[in-house]
Amino acid sequence: MTAAWPRRPRLVAGNWKMHKTPAEGAALAREFVALRAADPAATKCEVAMCPPFTSLGLVAEALKGSGVHLGAQNMNAETHGAFTGEVAGTMLVASGCRFVILGHSERRHVMGETDEQVAKKLRAALRDGLTPIVCVGELLAEREADKTAEVIVRQITAAYAGLDADTAKSTVVAYEPVWAIGTGKVATPEQARDAHRVVRATLDQVVGAGVGAAVQVLYGGSVNAGNAATLFAEDDIDGGLVGGAALEAAGFWKIVAAAAARP
Ligand code: PGA
Repeated sequence: MTAAWPRRPRLVAGNWKMHKTPAEGAALAREFVALRAADPAATKCEVAMCPPFTSLGLVAEALKGSGVHLGAQNMNAETHGAFTGEVAGTMLVASGCRFVILGHSERRHVMGETDEQVAKKLRAALRDGLTPIVCVGELLAEREADKTAEVIVRQITAAYAGLDADTAKSTVVAYEPVWAIGTGKVATPEQARDAHRVVRATLDQVVGAGVGAAVQVLYGGSVNAGNAATLFAEDDIDGGLVGGAALEAAGFWKIVAAAAARP
């Protein structure tokens, strides 16, 4: 798997969670675009910004023509209908989104989203023309009980079983250990690498040989400008899903630059 890095494009996605008004989000996007435009090497790393639904319109305008992608943080699997408070994938596409984050740990553990719902959303996102970023990861108690691999295998299997190989290859997985999210406790590069290898091996097993090596696997959980380069030095880490550190343009830019600098 070590030789696979050059074949997979690097990607850093910012998950803004429930932060920023539309005006604040557009200002952040404009500031980031200016920093990125000043360094041509930065185009070596794909970037997505995933604001709350309410900011998609203004952030889309701010990102227009910049090459920085827009993403959403969630979607409903249905196409339309009486689902008060929900948003369909086609609406995200019409708002300029290319990516959608699915099964984030806050949705799984705070909103009670199940493996089954994540699987439905994955298929819906692909149907609607979005690139899904499927989040998986273990709780602290599960890591301490040596169940990290078991959890990843269960979550990947539930999401991907039955997908065809070419479709699966077009998706992105984010490994985000729940104990590292928003805590300042980052996984070691070895812990992240090992988990990413479990993701890839499971994709090979559940979908087909070669799928694991083709899918971009991002690490998420307290990534910041100080630790990004060490994490991204691992061949199996194709980039990051960044929360807190994506809320400030200069810091987020440094993380993207670290991914772009990876040979
Ligand atoms: P964090 O969040 O970078 O603030 O830990 C990552 C995430 O939840 O995607």
